[in-house]
Amino acid sequence: MDSVITPWEVKGNVDYDKLKREFGLGPLPQLPKVFQEMVLFRRGLIFAHRDFERVLAAIKAKKPLVVMTGLMPSGKFHFGHKMVADQLILYQNLGAKIYLAVADVEAYNSRNQTMKELRETAVTEYAANYAALGLDLKKCDFYFQSERSARGEKANAYYRLAAMLSRHATFNEFRAIYGEISPGKMASALLQAADMLHPQLPEFEGSCPVVVPVGVDQDPHLRFARDLSQRYKEHSFTQLSSTYHHFLPGLKGGKMSSSDPTSYIALSDSPEEAAMKIKKYAFSGGQPTIEEHRLKGGNPDVDVSFQLLRYGLEPDDVKLKKIEDDYRKGKMLTGELKQILIEKITAFLTEHQLKRAKALKQVAKFIN
Ligand code: TRP
Repeated sequence: MDSVITPWEVKGNVDYDKLKREFGLGPLPQLPKVFQEMVLFRRGLIFAHRDFERVLAAIKAKKPLVVMTGLMPSGKFHFGHKMVADQLILYQNLGAKIYLAVADVEAYNSRNQTMKELRETAVTEYAANYAALGLDLKKCDFYFQSERSARGEKANAYYRLAAMLSRHATFNEFRAIYGEISPGKMASALLQAADMLHPQLPEFEGSCPVVVPVGVDQDPHLRFARDLSQRYKEHSFTQLSSTYHHFLPGLKGGKMSSSDPTSYIALSDSPEEAAMKIKKYAFSGGQPTIEEHRLKGGNPDVDVSFQLLRYGLEPDDVKLKKIEDDYRKGKMLTGELKQILIEKITAFLTEHQLKRAKALKQVAKFIN
């Protein structure tokens, strides 16, 4: 299948090396130990960057660092979203200031929900799960694109930047970066540029390194914002840094996506529901019969259950390697592999959902 990768659509098999070449992304440099201890960095699932050296230098020198990212509140919070949350928690523990946008305006312009529905999802799914995973929202600047701040000078600065950046963009540039483009998409790209750049305005932190951790589909937005920031003369921006992670595979292959319940496991799915989805939908790299499987072995590279373990549900590298080897050799069957995943997910969800229930009470104040 031909793949399509744009900020608004991800389809087909993703060739990450090709993307790296086409987008001109660098491989990650040698990373300090704290990063190596984190599964996503250690296993190469965060695989490319722009200007990440600046981020490492700021951490080393204990200089101010902002981590900025955002998510569209378009459905259930699933294990794909958790990849972003885990990175934010790592950076927060390193002392970085976290800016977290709820892209409700973008979702309003590209999906079919009301602002009220989007806000509810943002709070009960996104904020509650972030908090339950261990992100300290009180220390974050957590905001809605539709409601930047109750403080006038901050809100003005953000919306002013979003509006004034358009002088520095051309229609040809939009077309070159995004291909097919509509007014709604143009507005989203400009607002997202403001999301990524405004932490450096004097009303916020002032010029400093900002890193944007995202899925690789978001790179067009980064290229656009990086170009605009250097043309904008009203303020001197430190060039944006970014890191890119692989897409978590959906249960049936492709990308885990909140628009298809049979593709995802949500962090609010009950352990029984999760087990059912794994048994019923998780694509298997095993052979059609047990005899054939014992003889030829399975393929963990395409096996979604194995991949979910690799993306973090089995954090122990030695245990993961043993599972991989046993599966490849045919010593382990698909049913056994799925059972390992189900046990891991059950333990995770059971504990997580207790934390989420508590977190829901804390974040309720964000709902009007
Ligand atoms: N476009 C992003 C998405 O589709 C959401 C987003 C909005 C974002 N503003 C951002 C991501 C700023 C990173 C940085 O999920």
